Amino acid sequence: TIGKSTNILWHDCPIGQNERQKLLNQKGCVVWITGLSGSGKSTLACALSRELHSRGHLTYVLDGDNLRHGLNRDLSFKAEDRVENIRRVGEVAKLFADAGLICIASLISPYRSDRSACRNLLPNSSFIEVFLNAPLEICEARDPKGLYKLARAGKIKGKNEKPTDCRCLLFTRKAYQGKSPVGFTGIDDPYEPPSDCEIVIQCNIGHCPSPKSMADQVVSYLEANGFLQ
Ligand code: PPS
Repeated sequence: TIGKSTNILWHDCPIGQNERQKLLNQKGCVVWITGLSGSGKSTLACALSRELHSRGHLTYVLDGDNLRHGLNRDLSFKAEDRVENIRRVGEVAKLFADAGLICIASLISPYRSDRSACRNLLPNSSFIEVFLNAPLEICEARDPKGLYKLARAGKIKGKNEKPTDCRCLLFTRKAYQGKSPVGFTGIDDPYEPPSDCEIVIQCNIGHCPSPKSMADQVVSYLEANGFLQ
């Protein structure tokens, strides 16, 4: 029995991942980009998708912010909702990889254990964790959505805090009535950097790689490890 479902049986189909991969000339995998808000995860995801697409490879981007407009719109940023957010995206990413696609997931995914659980959903070596290591000072200086400013002003923290930038009021209002406090990652909520991941992209004050060069770093890894034929 898995979870709460009972009396369920797995059904295999005659066309499997291998057949789909042959059509696509690539190996299905998940490129999982983790890092602070404002570190450039979405920029890298888009640049990578564009680069692979131009080389004839099929990709799909799962972006944390975007998924929270639909699939995950019932989830807040309290700890247990972040865990569920990552669990769901891990399962969706696994389906895309099984479909033969190069699935690019870009989420803060702040907890090591959640990223590791996603890794364990996939066959060996087809989960490629990319740490976009941009320090907090850089992300905060960029502050593309003004969220760090709000967090510093104490306007994001607090279990009864009303959402500030909310495109789905009904769901979020409900979520904010939960018990766990909501904090902003890196300010008053934790971010656990990977201790052992496939790729680290380093961004330092005065030198951050361009989107294209970040994407090239990932493409080189995919080529070297036989994901692109
Ligand atoms: S998580 O932690 O993995 O569940 O987050 P994720 O689904 O990737 O969503 C991150 C984007 O949500 C915006 N946002 C917040 N981030 C962190 N903490 C809090 N409290 C928060 N509230 C809203 C933020 O814009 C993130 O976007 P990115 O692209 O990471 O900057």
